[in-house]
Amino acid sequence: MRSYKAKSVTSIQLPPRERRETVLTEAGHNVFNLAADDVFIDLLTDSGTGAMSDDQWAAVVRGDEAYAGSRSFKRFRETVADVMGFDRVVPTHQGRGAENVLFGALLDDGDVVLNNTHFDTTRAHVTNQGAIAADCPAETDLTTDTVGTFAGNFSTDRGWDAVEEHGQDAVSAVVLTITNNSAAGQPVSMANIRETAAFATEIDATFVIDACRFAENAQFIKQRDPEYADTPLSEIAREQLRPADAITMSGKKDALANIGGFTAVRDAALFEQCKQRAILYEGFPTYGGLAGRDLEAMATGLREAVQPPYVAERIEQVATLGDLLRDRDIPIVTPTGGHAVYIDAAALFPDIPADQYPGQRLVCELYREGGVRTVELGSFAFPGTNRPELVRLALPRRTYWHEHLEHIAETAARVRDRRDEYSGLEIVWEPPMEELRHFSAELEPV
Ligand code: F0G
Repeated sequence: MRSYKAKSVTSIQLPPRERRETVLTEAGHNVFNLAADDVFIDLLTDSGTGAMSDDQWAAVVRGDEAYAGSRSFKRFRETVADVMGFDRVVPTHQGRGAENVLFGALLDDGDVVLNNTHFDTTRAHVTNQGAIAADCPAETDLTTDTVGTFAGNFSTDRGWDAVEEHGQDAVSAVVLTITNNSAAGQPVSMANIRETAAFATEIDATFVIDACRFAENAQFIKQRDPEYADTPLSEIAREQLRPADAITMSGKKDALANIGGFTAVRDAALFEQCKQRAILYEGFPTYGGLAGRDLEAMATGLREAVQPPYVAERIEQVATLGDLLRDRDIPIVTPTGGHAVYIDAAALFPDIPADQYPGQRLVCELYREGGVRTVELGSFAFPGTNRPELVRLALPRRTYWHEHLEHIAETAARVRDRRDEYSGLEIVWEPPMEELRHFSAELEPV
């Protein structure tokens, strides 16, 4: 059941099949190159694509656009303190801006950063500082029916291996990404957060939480850890962030806004460094590259994200999409995570080898069959990493209805029925930076 109703809507339409064929070819079999108007159901990302509430829109109108010390910043700062427990906050234009500000202040050339799994932009910003990004996931085999209760956890055993390999002095930061986007959006347990914090303290590293989907993670803790079954969601949300020395946040996820981000820290000296970097890269530290109205939207969204039943319904919607797909024999990673369903394209198309991008073929066919846009997160997006051939169906927040989910599942079922017709794909053009190729490379059928 949804605890909200629509009062403003955007029309969408399924273009005729012929048009879908044409634009897919023109896009070089890369759905990032499609015009959004040619997409019927857009599951490319859950980032900045959700519906804002009327309270958020009302807050937008209240935005105070003063360059320094705006009323909107004050309200935003008080909200971050209330909802997330951090008094020292620097707004940024989005999550990667927060990563740039914080990691630039924290890291030196040759440092090592450990993470349960680095998200792409996090890895890129660590590397950009001359540091080394090492993943320490507890669960490495994310395919169908292999995932446990808190499969996003950090492995301290792997952490210790990394300390041995690089030397304790080199490891300057330990990051926990909650939920773990690059591990199928799986949650991290409260016990693991504490264990990872203790590990960071023991090796004298700064403990950072990438809190983009902190409300979703808190909801999983409430559902799956009996100790927290009766704890209010807002308390769990704060408690999971308490051990962190710093957080980075994309307001486009669990602040329910279309743009924005921030970093927040405990230490006064680090705060000062972050503010100076913000002035250089983002803007004066009371607006951070945003308009006052964006700070208002984030502040209102942060409170809504931890106000039941919003996030319980969101996770349930993702699980429902997973069930509809499974009912049609589509192999998905289970249990589903917080923001997306991940289809195992290698299991769906066993005859397409990894170097012919079975995931990207699936992405193309979901669009061709039903105008559904998704994203490949396998060999095409992450060259040379041996990642499973997953395709992500990310659900924007408060945006689609059950009928849309049924259309997605029916589309996937039609693709499954025709699976013997599909060949692999080859790249015919790619940009100079291989790590960024999936955003713009062009492909053709083999
Ligand atoms: N950290 C995580 C875990 C993320 O998922 C993202 C963005 C970021 C940091 C960067 O935030 O986009 O505001 O700069 N993830 C989006 C996605 C893009 O589609 O998963 P940003």
